[in-house]
This record gives sequence, structure tokens and C-alpha cells, in this order.
Amino acid sequence: MSPAENWAAVDRYISDRLVPEDPALADALAASAAAGLPAIAVSAAQGKLLHLLARAVEARAILELGTLGGYSTIWLGRALAPGGRLVTLEANPAYAEVARANIARAGLGDTVELRLGPALETLPRLAAEAGGPFDFIFIDADKQNTPEYFAWALTLSRPGTMIITDNVIRDGALIDEASDDPVIQGARRFHEMLASERAFGSRVSATSIQTVGVKGYDGFTLALVTPR
Ligand code: SAH
Ligand code: DHB
Ligand code: MG
Repeated sequence: MSPAENWAAVDRYISDRLVPEDPALADALAASAAAGLPAIAVSAAQGKLLHLLARAVEARAILELGTLGGYSTIWLGRALAPGGRLVTLEANPAYAEVARANIARAGLGDTVELRLGPALETLPRLAAEAGGPFDFIFIDADKQNTPEYFAWALTLSRPGTMIITDNVIRDGALIDEASDDPVIQGARRFHEMLASERAFGSRVSATSIQTVGVKGYDGFTLALVTPR
């Protein structure tokens, strides 16, 4: 078995035991694949991690950047107590249409508000209408803009807000200072700004965790907004 096959097999072992079958989540993946969406949703084990973290902070308001077919959206929506709300931002109208159907099928049609448009346009609008603060924020849209998204996440947060940022390791390319890939440059700039007291560093405490599994070798950043 190659390392990648081993990671995937172990991920299946974990999800077989610890991630119960949820027809709405399975349907969401099937409908997303049928509609030709890329298979880049979080894994089942990662979806459950997002769900458990949102429950642990007793999130009543959740913000997501990058909906795709709504798979992570459904995991997060399931973490909300009755009366909770989730705003998810997606730029691609075709993906958004698939996501809306998946979210409705999961019974979350009244809980989830999907806003269509590039997040750098929908975020200022959300802030202007005092749409926050959010208790839990998942950043998973286009990776070159991650630092800008994180700045908006801070604007829309309160002390105690947990912010998870996906795909920050990218096969270890994070440490390639010569990379000309905007995705890698985004992840590097993000870490520099977390490290800088003048940027995000004074407002959050953060760490990044490398992960392996069905999605290969990648990782996420967990940041907690601190009192200022
Ligand atoms: N969170 C999803 C996966 C998101 S994939 C899950 O785990 O199930 C990244 C998504 O970001 C794609 O759907 C892509 O269309 C969207 N995206 C790309 N650029 C964007 C932008 N500028 N604003 C909002 N969403 C964007
Ligand atoms: C990609 C996007 C993701 O959010 C992810 O988790 C993996 C891959 C991508 O755009 O390739
Ligand atoms: Mg992702």
C-alpha cells in the first residue's frame, strides 16, 4: 500500500466506526457528483470535526466561505441548536443551485442562508448590515484570498469566536518560499499575518495542524479570537 492508500484506508476505518450514516450527507455528495462538482468537500471525519467544534463553542451563528455542494454546510448546520443560523457564501451560481437543493433536502432550508457572489463582495455587505458577530467561521473558498477572508472574519467575530481555515498545508508546499502558486502564497501570507502582532497576531491565538486522509496531505488552521 502506498502512503496515500494507507491514509485513505485509515480514514475509511475511522468514518466507518465514528461517523454515522446520514442520508442527507450521502445524498449531497451523490447529487454533487452527478452535477459534475469537483470532489473537494471536506472528508466525513473532517466534517464531523467541524460539527464537534461548532457544538463545543455552542455556536448559534455560523459563517462559511465556500459552499460548493453544501456538504460542510450540512455538517455545520447540524451543530446548531434550534433558532441558530448559518450564512454560507458561494461565487459559482451552478454550485449554489446544487447546494440549495442539498441543504433543503437536509431539512436546513430555513436555517441556512446562501449568499451568491464573490466573497470579497458579499462580506462587506454582510458587515454593513451588521450580520455578525458569528460564533464559528469556516474559511474554505478560493485560497489566494485567505488572508483577506480572515480579516473579514475578524470583523464579523467577537472574543471567543473560533475560525477554522482549510487547505493551508497543500502537500507541504506551505514552506516553499519560492512557490509562484497563488494558493501557496495565500497560505504563506496568512501564516505571516498570524505571526505578526501588527496584523492578526494581537487579536487571535492560532495553530495549524497537518492532516492526512482520503484528501491526501493537507491541513487546517484553528484560530481563537482573543479579548482585546
Ligand atoms: N466547504 C465545501 C468545499 C468548498 S470548495 C465543503 O467542504 O463541502 C471551495 C468553494 O469556494 C468552491 O465551491 C468555489 O466555487 C468557491 N469559491 C471560489 N472562489 C470564491 C469566491 N471568490 N467567493 C466565494 N466562493 C468562492
Ligand atoms: C480544493 C479546495 C478545497 O477546499 C479543498 O479542501 C481541496 C481542494 C481545490 O480547489 O482544489
Ligand atoms: Mg477545503
